[in-house]
Order: sequence, then structure tokens, then C-alpha cells
Amino acid sequence: MDRIMAIARKHQLMVIEDCAHAVETEYRGIKAGTFGDFGCFSFYVTKNVVAGEGGMIVGRDAELVARARTLALHGMSKDAWHRFSDKGYKHYQVVECGFKYNMMDLQAAIGLHQLARVEQNWLRRRALWEMYGQALSGLPLVLPTPPEPQTRHALHLYTVRIGNTGTSPDRDTFLDNMNALGIGTGVHYQSVAEHPYYRERFGWDPDQWPNARAIGQQTVSLPISSRLTDSELQRVAEAVTQALAC
Ligand SMILES: Cc1ncc(COP(=O)(O)O)c(C=O)c1O
Repeated sequence: MDRIMAIARKHQLMVIEDCAHAVETEYRGIKAGTFGDFGCFSFYVTKNVVAGEGGMIVGRDAELVARARTLALHGMSKDAWHRFSDKGYKHYQVVECGFKYNMMDLQAAIGLHQLARVEQNWLRRRALWEMYGQALSGLPLVLPTPPEPQTRHALHLYTVRIGNTGTSPDRDTFLDNMNALGIGTGVHYQSVAEHPYYRERFGWDPDQWPNARAIGQQTVSLPISSRLTDSELQRVAEAVTQALAC
């Protein structure tokens, strides 16, 4: 972030941080999402605060935040809640060509109550992270890189690399093997240039970014959630051992 912010300052650029996975993340004691002009968090079902869909923008400039709020609801000057308050009906005006990007109050009510559990869920994931490290050590895979000093990792995705040692199956075979053993896995992510849209729209070729391509073809996310029990984690670890052997 130091380097990104230096570039932004030099060229007077606005920085919008994608911190979809990073509610808990800090760098030198500063929270992800608060370095730049805006930070965007996701509350989709796979995230650490879940509202079903939706997310949250944080920003440092009150006027820009107000504009984001207006744009998120049809470009209307007052949202529906304020139009129908106890103070009586208030006219609104359409002041911009906006979007329908508002999160429902119902979703917010679900998400709000999870904020109090963010820390205890993170501590549980940290314990699971360590257990995975012990259970998987010695297997032909690459474990997640330890977090750098002065950082707080969100510990959101437990990603390992498979298929780069020559003694294990390739990643996609491993995914199939895990599925056959009844364990769900994920891929975060294939490289951007492998997706047809980017190849067709921008003429990108995955070979232009061989490291991104290699990681996209080798990465696997194993189940991690504060709800995972110790014995479930052991079952995943045993499945990984079997899936690597076939
Ligand atoms: C890094 C990253 N950014 C953004 C998003 C999109 O979040 P949302 O689905 O809330 O738009 C995701 C979703 O997984 C993500 O992983």
C-alpha cells in the first residue's frame, strides 16, 4: 500500500481498495480499506461478515460518500426511509443518473449482528490455520506463506499450491479427488487473462503473465470457517493426503 499510495500521490490518482475479503486485515496497524479514498467490503455468503449479498463502502471524504449513497439508489436525493419518516412525506429529486446498488435493510440487520463476532471468528480461524499447518506438513503441496511482519492477515482463504512438485496430481485432478471424498474446495483464482472476456476484449494472452497463470492453475482453497470443528479439519487433512496419493 505504501508503494501504491506513493504512485497515487505522484499522479494525483484516486485509490479504491478492493478489500472484499479483508475485514480483519491491517498493515502497520492501519485497517485495509482506509489507505485510499474508498474501501469496498463484500458481505456475500462466502465472506467473513455475511448478509447474503451486498457490501459496504468506506470513504474519507463526506461529500464523495454522500454522492456514492445517492448513486447507489437511483440518483435520488433522499432514500426511501427518509421520505417516509415520522416527520411526514419529503419530496425527493433525481439529481444524477444512478444505479440500483443499495443493500436491503433486511440484509443489513443480518450483517450488523455479526460485527460483534468478527474477532472471535478470526481467532478460531487462526487456530484452524495452525492446525492445518501441522496436519499438512510433509505432504507434496505448498502451504500458505506466513503473514509478513507488521501485518494482520484476514485468514479468510486457506490456499495451498498443488501440482508444482512433480510428485502430486495436477490441481484439477486433486479437485476431483477431493470431491469424490466428499470435501468441497475452491479456486481463488484463475488468472484474469485466462477468462475469454479479457482475451477477446483486450487481446490478452495468459502466457504474458506466466506466474499468475501458474498460480491460477495450482491454487486450491481448503474449507475454513469459524464453524469448522477440529475433527472436520482432521477429516479434510486425511482427504488431502488421500487425494494427493491418487
Ligand atoms: C477480491 C474480491 N473482490 C470483490 C468481490 C466481489 O464481491 P461482491 O460479490 O460482494 O460484489 C469478490 C468476491 O468474491 C472478491 O473475491
